[in-house]
Amino acid sequence: MSDVFNEHLSYFQLPHRLDLYSDAIARSIKPGDTVADLGCGFGVLGMLCLKHGASHVWGIDDSEALHVARETVQRSGLSERYTCIASSSYKADLRQKVDVIICDHIGHFGADYGIIAMLHDAQKRLLKPGGLVIPRELRMEVAAVSSKAQAARVNLWSGTGSLPEFHWLREKSANTKHIVDFAADEIVSDACDLGSITLGAEAAQFFHFSATLTAAKDAEMHGLAGWFDCLLGGDVWMNNSPLKESSIGRSQAFLPLEQPIAVRAGDQLAVTIKMRPCDTMLAWTVENVTSGALVQKMSTWKGAIFDPDAFGQGNQK
Ligand SMILES: C[S@@+](CC[C@H](N)C(=O)[O-])C[C@H]1O[C@@H](n2cnc3c(N)ncnc32)[C@H](O)[C@@H]1O
Repeated sequence: MSDVFNEHLSYFQLPHRLDLYSDAIARSIKPGDTVADLGCGFGVLGMLCLKHGASHVWGIDDSEALHVARETVQRSGLSERYTCIASSSYKADLRQKVDVIICDHIGHFGADYGIIAMLHDAQKRLLKPGGLVIPRELRMEVAAVSSKAQAARVNLWSGTGSLPEFHWLREKSANTKHIVDFAADEIVSDACDLGSITLGAEAAQFFHFSATLTAAKDAEMHGLAGWFDCLLGGDVWMNNSPLKESSIGRSQAFLPLEQPIAVRAGDQLAVTIKMRPCDTMLAWTVENVTSGALVQKMSTWKGAIFDPDAFGQGNQK
């Protein structure tokens, strides 16, 4: 249980997050509304809905965090208005449709924790026609980063401290999405909004975003930083930008380059990001259009390490 305590404590400690959810709920929920809280964890979002007038909440979670939600609603005298369902949201059956669906499945880059597929599935199966989804709109933002610390993390596998047998892991690490806390001065371009995704709606099978970033200073670029800005409800937005004081302080995504790129202030950097909402696969390319440096193509597919037995190619014994 200690891992679960620590995981959920870290969510509770994020600055602004619960106040923003509380504001959004107050602006979205009508007295008597019924709510499904997907991935409810300790149950906090559903309990906020009850405080703001919801008549009943179904808290759905597939981990042992649900035991804490159950005990907490009992201790708070809310158990008649809160039903715990130990299940994946994809399998949950509430026997009736609800007025509101709520979750915090926003991840670090916004769409990297499965929120698009989760809310689309729940909207079709669990939500009344015309019902509300919280959060309702997702924006993903990217910027160029220069971070010696993150470059060192990728290079660790091929560095002097690493056994030569493991040097092949450097390529894997360069093709991995890392979770990182960037300082504002590590961002070396403008931040570009990749576009808006309406949550709960029919999702595209595949997203292909492109952006042109402008370098803000001369630097050695080591990759892209990705974060989100998300409309929870009403006009309440929540972000984890390393550039904004209003950030909830959740870490950002780091998408490395295979090799650093030298950039000069004003250089134009063409970026593409491809992703599928049904899984965590991401592909990204970066090109310094101004200097004409070679385009670099990275993907979590190249970073994956597969079990050969799963493909029937394992060593025969
Ligand atoms: C980021 S935590 C959020 C917890 C809580 N909603 C909050 O805001 O503090 C996500 C929770 O969702 C659960 N979870 C992840 N995917 C799920 C799914 N498809 N169905 C049910 N629970 C899920 C995890 O076990 C975890 O407890």
